[in-house]
Amino acid sequence: MLILGIESSCDETAAAVVKDGKTVLSDVIASQIDIHRRFGGVVPEIASRNHTLQIAGVVNEALTRANLKLADMDAIAVTCGAGLLGALLVGVSYAKALAYGAKKPLYAVSHIKGHIAANYLAHDITPPYICLLVSGGHSAILKIDDYENFKLLGTTRDDAAGEAFDKTARILGLPYPGGPEIERLAATGKPTITFSRPSVKDKDLDFSFSGLKTAVMNYVENARARNTSMNPADVAASFQKTAVDMLVENTFKAVRRTGLKTVAIAGGVSANAYLRAEAEKVAYEIGARLVYPPLRLCTDNAAMIAAAAYYMSISGVAPAALDLDASASIPL
Ligand code: KG4
Ligand code: ZN
Repeated sequence: MLILGIESSCDETAAAVVKDGKTVLSDVIASQIDIHRRFGGVVPEIASRNHTLQIAGVVNEALTRANLKLADMDAIAVTCGAGLLGALLVGVSYAKALAYGAKKPLYAVSHIKGHIAANYLAHDITPPYICLLVSGGHSAILKIDDYENFKLLGTTRDDAAGEAFDKTARILGLPYPGGPEIERLAATGKPTITFSRPSVKDKDLDFSFSGLKTAVMNYVENARARNTSMNPADVAASFQKTAVDMLVENTFKAVRRTGLKTVAIAGGVSANAYLRAEAEKVAYEIGARLVYPPLRLCTDNAAMIAAAAYYMSISGVAPAALDLDASASIPL
């Protein structure tokens, strides 16, 4: 089954052709990071406008690189949420027009399902398993029962993990997106500063990141106000360690509780080498198998959207009607 995937939920215009949810025949990403960096984050209006400019070329490039035509596709898949509404609308409208014109079924894919499916492209894993989903918009521990049914075991009470990296980077004067910048800076520092970790009392698998961000901000502002020396690399390393400890601890708490032996990490933050290494250590200790996508498939891409649509189709999910709308938020 050949699926053309389209993704435009944030600042990447992407299209990909994937065979049977497994083989990536092409994977084109037009990133707008350089455009948004000067504003310190994604500007929704500018993102939508650039998706409009890029989408036709990106989709054509994906078909050309796969050496296939639209007529060869068995289905079209598009991210319908969650994300920036105006940005999503560009992909959804374009995909609907393609599906209508070429008389192809259209799959409406949740961005979250897409991130989860990124691991199916790279690894032979089958549900059930535990997935730590960490991106700019979400932080969740999910029990993946099958390709369609997920149970939310823990989630963030405030900021998403990626958002915490981005905000901390901003405090330290680092450019957008902050995750890779914090990771790079942290590699040159030591986690010498203790930032208090908020405990979420009633639901111990939940996370809270906004307190950590505030702790970093207070530390940096105090140092600046008192004119005392502060090593930004140590701040980055200490923040990263605290955030990753929270993620890893809760994920493996869920693993122990469910007795499952496979753990996946997905979403943009799964690109973080420190998170991967810390999770590897615990997985090894308890004899669990840990998987995460290759770097290119961690952050937003369309191959994961096409893969997710394949698993929707084999699970019996009906294609979307042509009145499909985009949605800024989608329940996990
Ligand atoms: O999945 P993604 O590309 O977009 C969303 O769905 O949100 O995730 C983007 C997020 C950003 O917050 C970015 O800072 C973070 O993932 N990120 C990282 C790393 N690479 C991207 N966070 C920590 N370490 C990284 N290496
Ligand atoms: Zn994403």
